[in-house]
Amino acid sequence: MSTTSIDSLLHENRRFAPDPAFTANAVAKPEIYDEARADRLAFWAKQARELHWHTPFTQTLDWSNPPFARWFDDGELNVAYNCLDRHVLAGNGDRVAIHWEGEPGDSRTITYAELTSEVKRAANVLAKLGIGQGDRVAIYMPQIPEAIIAMLAIARLGAVHSVVFGGFSAESLRARIEDADAKLVITADGGWRKGKVFPLKTTVDEALSANAATVEHVLVVRRGENVVPWVDGRDLWWHDEMAAVSDEHEAQAFPAENPLFILYTSGTTGKPKGILHTSGGYLTQTTFTHKNVFDLHPETDVYWCTADVGWITGHSYVVYAPLANGATQVVYEGTPDTPHAGRWWEIIQKYKVSIFYTAPTAIRSFMKIGREVPQEFDLSSLRVLGSVGEPINPEAWVWYRDIIGGGRTPIVDTWWQTETGGIMISALPGITTTKPGSAQVPLPGISIDVLDDEGMHVGKEAGGLLVVTEPWPSMLRGIWGDPDRFRETYWSKFAHLEGGPYYFAGDGAHLDEDGDVQLLGRVDDVMNVSGHRLSTMEIESALVSHELVAEAAVVGAHDDTTGQAVVAFVILRSRKEGTVTASEASDLLRAHVAQQIGAIARPRQVFIVAELPKTRSGKIMRRLLQDVAEGREIGDTTTLTDTSVIRLISDTMQ
Ligand code: PRX
Repeated sequence: MSTTSIDSLLHENRRFAPDPAFTANAVAKPEIYDEARADRLAFWAKQARELHWHTPFTQTLDWSNPPFARWFDDGELNVAYNCLDRHVLAGNGDRVAIHWEGEPGDSRTITYAELTSEVKRAANVLAKLGIGQGDRVAIYMPQIPEAIIAMLAIARLGAVHSVVFGGFSAESLRARIEDADAKLVITADGGWRKGKVFPLKTTVDEALSANAATVEHVLVVRRGENVVPWVDGRDLWWHDEMAAVSDEHEAQAFPAENPLFILYTSGTTGKPKGILHTSGGYLTQTTFTHKNVFDLHPETDVYWCTADVGWITGHSYVVYAPLANGATQVVYEGTPDTPHAGRWWEIIQKYKVSIFYTAPTAIRSFMKIGREVPQEFDLSSLRVLGSVGEPINPEAWVWYRDIIGGGRTPIVDTWWQTETGGIMISALPGITTTKPGSAQVPLPGISIDVLDDEGMHVGKEAGGLLVVTEPWPSMLRGIWGDPDRFRETYWSKFAHLEGGPYYFAGDGAHLDEDGDVQLLGRVDDVMNVSGHRLSTMEIESALVSHELVAEAAVVGAHDDTTGQAVVAFVILRSRKEGTVTASEASDLLRAHVAQQIGAIARPRQVFIVAELPKTRSGKIMRRLLQDVAEGREIGDTTTLTDTSVIRLISDTMQ
């Protein structure tokens, strides 16, 4: 985060006390903080008992072998049963589970009873294809109900899904399928985005052409109505298979620690990490946080989280938690500005959305377009607004509250990660006096701290590294196939501390005068572009895989809309110099990264330079490149081998 935004955070002193009328009817009561403090494990056990357990647990946490936690270990449950059958059996089968809105304007309304029978049918299809407990299934889909149905059907069988965001390239998909040894891929002929059908099935074919060893079948949902190539024997139409099976399926019980999903996310190395989540603890924390952080009243609220199911926010707060809570939610397939700039606000008006959860980058792009657009719509149904994915600057926070929330809605800025599974730090509406730009307080049952490099608590009005000091129910259980990397990445930095090991989140944080937490962005080589996590190393590897490139360095530079933007500095191979102009090379390389990783990773700028700033030991000094990319005064260059290099780069950019 740039110095200016830290300054604006520090000088932010607006406060918004909860409205007494809201407090009177709020789900969360202030006592829960005391309750959790008095007995943290009893508090989580109580939340877990809100779920349906086929076999009740007797043990809450086993932390005898850190960092490998086991929550509710001897209990058994079925995650899909908790999200579906339970509500139907309680007489809520007619409640709408999903108001689905397609980008072209088509829509579907699906009740809990209908969703349950679709998931049962899909579970029968998958079982027929040989999917059972522990098998991995890759999902590469648009934001359509079948993506949710597929995830729940996999969970129902005790199998493990690996959802790959539909914007990722064939190469990224291949790497994920291979890492998890997926047996089956579920995809669609296409999906709608920005008024056009984008291909998915052809990308799956491309991904499987290199190495299809473990994939036995590809199930294809019809959505785009586009013509797709077909591999007989391997490829199957979803609708044909669904029509051929019954919608009776009894959910079996699985152990609380049965793996639920793997979700790949960027780390500091070139290879994405498969973050592993399991069942009982994950469902407990996501369900509890969804209900309390958003003040969910399932009988009356209409909830909408704009995240794609391909990201953790979509997993936890579109699929599992809202359904486990029996909520009615909106799911939208497309982009915010198709076919017009007011599409989101039109959807809120149409379904009378009362709880809305989105990312700061979206809010900032709406701010840019202007308040006139949302003001054309009736947004008076809104009563809670949430933010996630990156630090929200106070200006955007206040705009969100005033223009979208009509100056009346509490804002909850929720900090968490793919690894944490569920929300960790957030205000609770009706309780917390909120502060623009601050995530503020750990949730009840969550223990965090801000430490300096030596592991000392930083105290108030100071900054440091964010850590989680106690295991939490929805914590990652590991990195798929790589326990050493799991230990090393998250638990080694503060392993030596008394009471440790502590979980190191990779984020910088500041404690204000009240001890509240303000997030300052990543402290490692991970960038955050539009709330999406990208690794500098992964993009550098993609760049050097191009024949033009000899060396590359990537930094995340401040961007007013997307938070950060990818900026690359590239040295061309000497024999390639002169064959292309710098601007041609730059265009080619931007396209190459998009093709290798996916459009979200496409650099905003690629600068062709003669040299990169290096220390005497040969390390690229990204900090200096970041200064250049952000147009700042260049910092300390004393460790550089050649100080003129950075001037040269800076001149090239002018
Ligand atoms: O840097 C933090 C930022 O997003 C990172 C996690 O990214 P990901 O695993 O993709 O999950 C995003 C959605 C949960 C964190 O390490 N981040 C997330 N939420 C916030 C945030 N930074 C500041 N404020 C937030 N509310």
